[in-house]
Amino acid sequence: MKKILVTGGLGYIGSHTVVELQLAGFEVVIIDNLSNASKDVLQGIERITGILPAFEELDLRDKQATISFFQKYDDISGIIHFAASKAVGESVSNPLLYYENNVSTLITVLQQIQHKKKISFIFSSSCTVYGQAKTMPISENAPIQQAFSPYGNTKQIGEEILLDTAKIASGLHVISLRYFNPIGAHPSTEIGELPDGVPQNLVPFITQTAIGLRKELSVFGNDYPTEDGTCIRDYIHVVDLAKAHVTALKRLLDDTHEASFEVFNIGTGRGSSVLEVIESFERVSKQQLQYEIVARREGDVISAYADTTKANTVLGWKATSTLDEAMLSAWKWEQKIRKPNN
Ligand code: WQD
Repeated sequence: MKKILVTGGLGYIGSHTVVELQLAGFEVVIIDNLSNASKDVLQGIERITGILPAFEELDLRDKQATISFFQKYDDISGIIHFAASKAVGESVSNPLLYYENNVSTLITVLQQIQHKKKISFIFSSSCTVYGQAKTMPISENAPIQQAFSPYGNTKQIGEEILLDTAKIASGLHVISLRYFNPIGAHPSTEIGELPDGVPQNLVPFITQTAIGLRKELSVFGNDYPTEDGTCIRDYIHVVDLAKAHVTALKRLLDDTHEASFEVFNIGTGRGSSVLEVIESFERVSKQQLQYEIVARREGDVISAYADTTKANTVLGWKATSTLDEAMLSAWKWEQKIRKPNN
């Protein structure tokens, strides 16, 4: 059974990916510094798969501890690297935290593995690297533009570090997955998104408003040049996204990759406006959502949705869940965590 390290594996996307890795027959080791995750997620994973993943609490900024970890776990076949800070706004007010936590830790990890005979590495990237792409849908050939935030810049820098390192480290094979907008929760309602404090992202704010935690949703602008005036995004069910990581990992483990560094856009290929997401929520939850239109949010792109041709035909992966299914899973999760005895 191949052993796979998942850094940040107790996080939102990380935990859903651990479930799919275990279901695919991999042995998983999770490291997480618990800065944005709870150890309880381990039990949630076990309740779904029946397998408690190995877990080591580790902050990759602690170089010595990271070196010791890789000395202890020298039989890892692959790494899925989620560990990073990901709040766009926070990255603007605290850039050095982001460059340290997202870039220097990646360098530390790569220093431990660059001499391995063979190691498969999946990098958690983001469509943010495209900025406001000129044409929709967005393909992997779309130009990388000046990042809108230090967070987005750390993803661009991370990809460049991986590209350059994979060129000289003959055993290192990398796939960077550029996520669009992950939403929803595992259908079992055993794991899901646990935003820290006031949610920055649309869908958790919607479900927290509906459950009564927030007074109303603020829709950041309806004067954009789109059909209903609100921004468009590609909302992908987190389980579909998790499965993309397993497919990408197998591509590297089975040596079917075509280069030492590959990139795939991971989305549904469908664009949905903010108002369409609200309508979807109202449809699946059968309740009205309180919201008001307010001013635009600084840094928002007008539209971003994926051209999934390469992911579908080269990677051999395709999202299967609809927006309604994703929104219903988010709502069921919100109800579960707010009324735990449900
Ligand atoms: C979606 C739409 C908002 C909240 C960010 C990161 C991206 C990735 C996903 C990490 C926009 C609108 C939102 C609200 C609103 N994160 N909105 N009211 O900004 O597309 O992407 O999260 O990888 O890298 O940039 O996602 O959910 O914040 O916003 O109207 O209370 O919802 O204006 O149009 P975003 P989001």
